[in-house]
Amino acid sequence: MEFFDSHAHYNDEHYNEDRDNLINTMFGDGITRLVCAGYNVASSIEAINIAKKYDHIYATCGISPNDIEDFSEENLKKIEELAKNEKVVAIGEIGYDYYWNKDKKDIQKEYFSKQIEIANRLNLPIVIHSRDAYIDTIDMIRNISKVNRKGIFHCCQLNQELIKNAVNEGFYISFSGNITYKNAKSDECIKLVPLDKILIETDSPYLSPEPLRGTRNNSANVKLVAQKIADVLNKDLGEIAYITYKNANRIFNI
Ligand code: NI
Repeated sequence: MEFFDSHAHYNDEHYNEDRDNLINTMFGDGITRLVCAGYNVASSIEAINIAKKYDHIYATCGISPNDIEDFSEENLKKIEELAKNEKVVAIGEIGYDYYWNKDKKDIQKEYFSKQIEIANRLNLPIVIHSRDAYIDTIDMIRNISKVNRKGIFHCCQLNQELIKNAVNEGFYISFSGNITYKNAKSDECIKLVPLDKILIETDSPYLSPEPLRGTRNNSANVKLVAQKIADVLNKDLGEIAYITYKNANRIFNI
């Protein structure tokens, strides 16, 4: 059985001690494709460096709404140049975070929109980070900046209205370890997503699924996310692995 972790951060310092060893071990354990996501200029460069080293790893580059100090015209140009690398499969993570940066909505809007334009110029999909901002996020992709190649709601919040609207706009929904948490109310959210739009991710090193919550995450744990989806949809783990693998290849054009 093979799994595609659609979003992880092996560019994070939490892996400095054992990055290569871990990546190789996970590969042997069935994690045969993964996307290493950037969130500012430095982490985007690092994501590409890791992707260049491994055939089965791809990268995204972008400036997240939690890296506002990186917002500048000069850095947008850097992201656009970096994104021309052949291992870059999406622009992201980009979007809105009103949990951490509620008082800086205007600048988040400006840089979210400008990075969608980069994605459109390079014919890449986007990876959206949207936290406590679903109305404005849907407004962005529906009314402000059309996204030619669509994209992914990464680590999608378990909000039925968000998921319905995102799916309506043709976007993919990527579930993470949060669907395994108690009181997550994930079942109804999982059932709302058409099978050809579901992805699985770990968002490593964060968000370890139950029963590993609180520990450093890694892509092998994406199996626990897939298992939860399989249980809710009454399907085999292998079928969910296969479907999500195919979906990830399609949206990332691999
Ligand atoms: Ni992330």
